[in-house]
Amino acid sequence: MKILVTGGLGFIGSHTVVALLNKGYEVIIIDNLSNSNISVLEGITKITNKSPEFLKFDLKDKNRVSDFFDECQDIEGVIHFAASKAVGESVEKPLLYYENNINTLVLLLQEMRRRELSNFIFSSSCTVYGQADELPISEDAPVKKAESPYGNTKKIGEDIINDFAKTNASFKAIALRYFNPIGAHPTAEIGELPIGTPQNLIPYITQTGTGIRKELSVYGSDYPTEDGTCIRDYIHVMDLAEAHVVALERLVNNKNKSNYEVFNLGTGKGNSVLDVITTFEKVTQQKLPYKLVDRREGDIVEAYAETTKANSDLGWKARFNLEDALRSAWKWQQKQPK
Ligand code: WQD
Repeated sequence: MKILVTGGLGFIGSHTVVALLNKGYEVIIIDNLSNSNISVLEGITKITNKSPEFLKFDLKDKNRVSDFFDECQDIEGVIHFAASKAVGESVEKPLLYYENNINTLVLLLQEMRRRELSNFIFSSSCTVYGQADELPISEDAPVKKAESPYGNTKKIGEDIINDFAKTNASFKAIALRYFNPIGAHPTAEIGELPIGTPQNLIPYITQTGTGIRKELSVYGSDYPTEDGTCIRDYIHVMDLAEAHVVALERLVNNKNKSNYEVFNLGTGKGNSVLDVITTFEKVTQQKLPYKLVDRREGDIVEAYAETTKANSDLGWKARFNLEDALRSAWKWQQKQPK
């Protein structure tokens, strides 16, 4: 069975491609390499001993997307990762984010409709909840005004898919709301490739661990949490990848309960920034230089997933813990050029 993975050379996309190939799926990757590198394709092949077809083009190119679907008639599912995802950048360049994340989604859905393709998995984010009123966060928690244009593109994207599904009964979609994806494949052949200064905590920590960065700035230590630092649900990218295969098979095997479903993907456990630092030091047996600085604009205090629906309905549960994820991230970082 042939599956299209857009953004398939990205962080979560590449790990999902590996999981799909290992389960015997045929994969076609579309990626414009705006936030990835062709070396990821070599990493996928090293791990799986398979060479998925890779097409380098931008999903904003309407004609190229249409030609692709004309040429490739036997796709039976689409997993859509391709999107810009830097929260801070989205605040400075909102139109770029709405164009890149929304226009391309609409175009993809139009092409799927034209060919009566169903089985669509959408990469969404817990950021749609903003600061949830209740913890842990379940799928029926209110979706709030996003803290950033990036988060808004995920919220709008879900609404677009839901509205399309309402009027196209043969179309089936699942939105997966990730909490905080971290870690790398255990072989360290693929992992997170932040371009420039990492915005996210884990890559900044691992780069500090290898000396690329001088010290970690902890954004805020006066939050209303046990140790004053923010709490997040850090989920291993390998668990996330597995969840995408399980979600795809739910649709392919018609196990879905409606033609638009949403699942939270987290471990169900919250860890503070200081917890992460302590765990990293345990894993690496080295001190991590850090300083406590002011809060970062737009950060929420606490988020961790209510996992019952994903565990019971989707039939997926995270297997790895924070230590496993940090160990894999560290092994990956040590292979990167300094
Ligand atoms: C985690 C915690 C920071 C960096 C965002 C998006 C989410 C997803 C993941 C795309 C926060 C603190 C961070 C640093 C720090 N993105 N921190 N020093 O903001 O929870 O989620 O990235 O898929 O959709 O919203 O992740 O890793 O940036 O921050 O203290 O140098 O670490 O304040 O408390 P975040 P993050």
